[in-house]
Amino acid sequence: MLELKKLYFTATINEEGNGPSRNIIDGIDFNFEKGKFYAITGPNGSGKTTLAKLIMGINPVTSGSILFEGRDISNLSITDRAKAGIAYSFQQPARFKGITFRDLLSIATGTDEEKIFLEIVSRVGICPLSFLDKEIDANLSGGEIKKIELATTIAANPKLAIYDEPDTGIDLWTIHPMVNLLKKELTPDKTTIVVSHNKSFLDVADVIIILNQGKIAYQGNLKDALPLLNDLSICAYHHKLEGIENAECFR
Ligand SMILES: Nc1ncnc2c1ncn2[C@@H]1O[C@H](COP(=O)(O)OP(=O)(O)OP(=O)(O)O)[C@@H](O)[C@H]1O
Ligand SMILES: [Mg+2]
Repeated sequence: MLELKKLYFTATINEEGNGPSRNIIDGIDFNFEKGKFYAITGPNGSGKTTLAKLIMGINPVTSGSILFEGRDISNLSITDRAKAGIAYSFQQPARFKGITFRDLLSIATGTDEEKIFLEIVSRVGICPLSFLDKEIDANLSGGEIKKIELATTIAANPKLAIYDEPDTGIDLWTIHPMVNLLKKELTPDKTTIVVSHNKSFLDVADVIIILNQGKIAYQGNLKDALPLLNDLSICAYHHKLEGIENAECFR
């Protein structure tokens, strides 16, 4: 349903845009199938969010192509990709003063019907009804805004849903309902991609993809992925570059 063909995203390292460039996404080839739950994981800075943004059209493809249901969408706008059935839940959702959760649901569903909003909020279950009239502004907590972002993506009923670290800032009591919800929302005609470091998501995924330095370092089941994940600690990698062996690393 979604094919990535020799996909590259190249950017300059410094903000002025005149420094050396590097391939942040470095020649990715992958076919995502219908009815499957994919978990993309990998060290910080390995390119997970960049890849998600390339699929949604937030970042422009440097070269290669993205096919969605057989159609080349590489040059389509974000809006046209959304119309085609792709939705992306941001790692760091934007905040807007004066806009409420109800407004976001209205945009996602194309309706103002209270009955439909209530149905969505109860289906999502992880955000209370009282969220409906909350403003998506600086006063929302980190976990609240992630729940709203996830609910808005689900409300759009996409064929391909991409959730970028949906569990960031989420309380322990919500993680399992969230995992179950995303599994339940996946029907045979849809595809779900979750970017996460959380074992709860890796446990339920049909396919684990490990990104490292913009490349797919692994695709397959969790059991075989675990040893590789242990090796890919980002500071272990930097220590290796610096010739430091056996240093203490954050995992
Ligand atoms: N437009 C850009 N210009 C320059 N560098 C970029 C750009 N977009 C991303 N990067 C860099 O590319 C690397 C990958 O970033 P990305 O956000 O995709 O990582 P990630 O795998 O999602 O990490 P995390 O686990 O921390 O969320 C980072 O080093 C980031 O600074
Ligand atoms: Mg990221």
